[in-house]
Amino acid sequence: MSDKSIVWHQTSVSKQDRQALNGHKSCIIWFTGLSGSGKSTLANALAKALHEQQVRTYVLDGDNIRHGLNKDLGFSPQDRVENIRRIGEVAKLFVDAGIIALTAFISPYRADREQVRSLVEDGEFIEVYVKCPLSECEQRDPKGLYKKARAGEIPEFTGISSPYEEPEQPEIIIETDRLSVKEAVEQLLRLLKDCQIIS
Ligand code: PPS
Repeated sequence: MSDKSIVWHQTSVSKQDRQALNGHKSCIIWFTGLSGSGKSTLANALAKALHEQQVRTYVLDGDNIRHGLNKDLGFSPQDRVENIRRIGEVAKLFVDAGIIALTAFISPYRADREQVRSLVEDGEFIEVYVKCPLSECEQRDPKGLYKKARAGEIPEFTGISSPYEEPEQPEIIIETDRLSVKEAVEQLLRLLKDCQIIS
């Protein structure tokens, strides 16, 4: 719903001003993948490495956001769409604030991820496909959720009874069953340098 009586208010300090103050560009680093694939681990490890280089970051994480902003949402297709829509809008605000937003959500639908990409400027959305075979995620099962899903205790569980649409052209694929966290972070830092987000 759009309201014609609401007009966009220009701020006196721009995104470029804030980026200049920070000494780096801002963007969304969007980690997507199955539950247990390693999204949060990688997002947090990358945030730590960037922080140590004086880069301003903020991690938005599925479990945490679902305790607050999105605590009214479940895992039906409609709720997942709304979950990602809200996260996209929040991440966009972080980009405007000059901060690198790292998001760790399953975000199973391609169209939703592309919708977030369209919210920001070219080059400001970096899709990281955290790729890991379902069998490996299921073996890891850090929260015991796959076991419950297989037992029919959790309906609509991604990969078991709810779909995951793989990215078609992600900026990078990280195969977490083949790379260490350290190696993955090195690859991601290299990508951010190549994209001239950081120096
Ligand atoms: S989504 O699909 O993007 O809206 O999901 P997200 O907000 O990332 O939340 C995923 C975490 O919620 C837990 N969980 C489930 N995941 C998938 N399907 C179902 N039905 C479900 N129920 C609970 C699960 O711990 C996910 O955490 P991660 O970190 O991905 O393992």
